[in-house]
Amino acid sequence: MQKIKEELMAKFTAVFGPGGQVIPYFAPGRVNLIGEHTDYNGGHVFPCALTIGTYAIARKNTSRNLRLYSVNFEELGVIEVSLEDLSYAKEDDWANYPKGVVWAFAERGMKVDAGLDILYFGNIPNSSGLSSSASLEVVTAYILKQTFGFDTSLIDISLISQYAENKFIGVNCGIMDQFAIAMGKKDHAIFLDTSNLEYEYAPIQLEGAKIVIACSNKKRGLGDSKYNERRSECETALEELKKVVSIESLGELSEEQFEQYKDAIGDDVRRKRAKHAVYENQRTIKAVDALKANDIETFGKLMNASHVSLRDDYEVTGIELDTLVEASWEQDGVIGSRMTGAGFGGCTVSIVKDEAVDAFIKNVSDLYLQKIGYKADFYVVEIGNGPTVL
Ligand code: GLA
Repeated sequence: MQKIKEELMAKFTAVFGPGGQVIPYFAPGRVNLIGEHTDYNGGHVFPCALTIGTYAIARKNTSRNLRLYSVNFEELGVIEVSLEDLSYAKEDDWANYPKGVVWAFAERGMKVDAGLDILYFGNIPNSSGLSSSASLEVVTAYILKQTFGFDTSLIDISLISQYAENKFIGVNCGIMDQFAIAMGKKDHAIFLDTSNLEYEYAPIQLEGAKIVIACSNKKRGLGDSKYNERRSECETALEELKKVVSIESLGELSEEQFEQYKDAIGDDVRRKRAKHAVYENQRTIKAVDALKANDIETFGKLMNASHVSLRDDYEVTGIELDTLVEASWEQDGVIGSRMTGAGFGGCTVSIVKDEAVDAFIKNVSDLYLQKIGYKADFYVVEIGNGPTVL
């Protein structure tokens, strides 16, 4: 971290020039262990922050402009936007994310009254489903809080970032990613009830096992995916269910209640979507109970069941993620494996026994290349903290 920080500080001076008070920041990416597509259905999620994420070096400038530069998109150069015109602009590309966060603060009455120079560098693979965009939003929100002294908690930061994503970027995401990143805690996953934002940290002590992420390298962007479509399918199913049972969200239903009322949903596809939302929420609750009881085997089985449901009922996996997960299930020493994040490409998360990790990576990598025709990338990850000044 120290080395990256020094290199980025030097790069900042090269891009923006010397002087002023230059401060380095970091916000993590996240991986969700279980509880997928439940966060906009009033259900539970169980994500954790990673030690990879987004670095940002920031300084106030004397203009009324944001000058934004990403080491990941050097060809785009410095993107300069005026604080007087914070509207979405296609040509601003990735810089719409930080711009959206500044806009979202202003919407909450927290107006940024000076320009900023910010240099970003992310070591989360882009479009991998490890929340590079939420990480970029949260690090920007954290910079604004620190620089302008805004009175915002970390939970506010997650809500403001989600607001930017929903209303500025136009992706109707739930709260999971921004919350997991803003509230990240080393060696802990966050058991979050998205219906009321009550949360609990659960220690992840995987004795003799590691979390391995496999990145399919099938690019996806939430904006052009079927994410918003799934969300509205669930909303319609909820409206149909409300005619026969008094609920505010799918997350309120047990499996038995769902089976009792499901015929109120007038379409097979919507019934499958709602079934996933209900059963996945219950699986997440059971998984956290299993983990607390030190029953990692049950936790792994629930991860596997989560993937099957995302594949067959929610239909957000696709050949790349299915190939990775199905190859993972065949390997020795694999406790559980599933897709993670929105789906439609992106990553899988597996829990693998220490001694099996090398063979796991080699075998799954070979099987994937053979079937899909391009490589997957593997990361043995650690669980890290939320946003910080470095
Ligand atoms: C994306 C969204 C989250 C969540 C997941 C699916 O990561 O940003 O809010 O809905 O997909 O669980």
